[in-house]
Amino acid sequence: MQEATSLAKMVNIEKYFGAVQALKKVNIEVRSGEILGLLGDNGAGKSTLIKILAGVFPPDRGEIFFEGGRVKFSSPKDARAMGIETVHQALSLVDIMSISRNFFLGREPTRRIGPIHLLDRKKMNEECEKAVTGLGVRVRSPNEFVSILSGGERQAISIGRAMHFKVKLLILDEPLAALSVRETREVLRQVEKARESGVSVIFITHNVYHVYPVAERFVMLDRGIKIGEVYKKDASPEDIIEIIATGKMSKTLKT
Ligand SMILES: Nc1ncnc2c1ncn2[C@@H]1O[C@H](COP(=O)(O)OP(=O)(O)O)[C@@H](O)[C@H]1O
Ligand SMILES: [Mg+2]
Repeated sequence: MQEATSLAKMVNIEKYFGAVQALKKVNIEVRSGEILGLLGDNGAGKSTLIKILAGVFPPDRGEIFFEGGRVKFSSPKDARAMGIETVHQALSLVDIMSISRNFFLGREPTRRIGPIHLLDRKKMNEECEKAVTGLGVRVRSPNEFVSILSGGERQAISIGRAMHFKVKLLILDEPLAALSVRETREVLRQVEKARESGVSVIFITHNVYHVYPVAERFVMLDRGIKIGEVYKKDASPEDIIEIIATGKMSKTLKT
């Protein structure tokens, strides 16, 4: 087997919100083609960490490497241009826009009439319908508003969008919150499909049972500190819950 290569690496990341230190010298790495589970209770710093990786805001200290090179993102657009797509906890879909507008948000195909660039709505609708149907989401029309979709359908469209634009790293922040059992299964299937197509995934959740079946490695955060890192083969879900509850790795799990 080939040695796993590093896709994204965050080194000694620190972040303050006023007097609150949300991240304390956090080191985290995601390798090519892996699903990494990022776990921790509410307020642990999970969303803050991945927002830094997604270019939402810069770290106060620390470095980010992507595909071996140092990167500095000044906006989510920069991160996206490198192939990092994030489905944020509050889904990055705009309720009052159509499904197809949401699908292309910021990346709309245009057609030219003389000097004028117009949205190519026909192309948008066709491509969106094809991609969304391929994900098993049945929508009547790409022109419908996103507000009529269920939580599972919204996740599917967000993940589908990421895969359509051939991302290298897909970051999902609490993707199963508020989903039904059937929708949960569907989203997990899509995550595995993304990985099979070569995408690396960071899957954030506070519920280890959600991510345990699909991830091969787990990183645990507690109040801004990385408290552990384990391979699935070395730890049961209960071991991981224990690490989060006590804030430290037990001796037997230390490598
Ligand atoms: N934009 C912000 N402004 C001020 N404090 C924030 C902001 N975002 C997060 N925090 C604080 O940083 C800490 C980590 O939050 P967060 O990264 O959202 O945790 P998690 O995603 O693990 O629940 C919390 O104490 C939270 O209140
Ligand atoms: Mg969060």
